[in-house]
Amino acid sequence: MNIEKLWPELTWISDKKLREATTKTWELALDRGVLSPDDLQRIPFTLLAGPDLKVSFMDHKRCVVHVARESTLKMIKFFGDELPIDIDVVIAGAILADVGKLLEYETDEKGNSFQGTYGKYLRHPFSGVSLAEECGVPAEVCHIIAAHAGEGDMIKRSTEAYIVHHADFMTFLPFKSRLEI
Ligand SMILES: [Fe+2]
Repeated sequence: MNIEKLWPELTWISDKKLREATTKTWELALDRGVLSPDDLQRIPFTLLAGPDLKVSFMDHKRCVVHVARESTLKMIKFFGDELPIDIDVVIAGAILADVGKLLEYETDEKGNSFQGTYGKYLRHPFSGVSLAEECGVPAEVCHIIAAHAGEGDMIKRSTEAYIVHHADFMTFLPFKSRLEI
């Protein structure tokens, strides 16, 4: 499996060791989970936005990485040393935030995805950290995986985790529910 084809954004991670650990985590998740790269291009990115949603898992995940990177560049430009941000950590964290969904989701005979028993016990922030640690992803990036969703509201987020959390939610919440007049 060519992970770089699925995730062209991996080349944005300048630290070789971090890039390799991030790539390895995706390889492991695809190996262990039931979803294929083709499924990821096809299944809707959330199960909470109704049955007609066309935005795929990969469309959404890649958008989050782009929004997080652009936001980081703007924050570095305007805030400089006042708010140190490690852009490699942001990008790796954004690429890995939902990797655990490969263990959370299962598919039925029609190809529709649903949350399986394992996923009910361990939502993707937990399974994602488990996969990433196995592949040598450092704690500052695992923190982003752990804290990117609602569970992260219970702890103090790093700057990098705030960025990924908001990039994820600003591109998700309007699909779930928005004011329409
Ligand atoms: Fe998520």
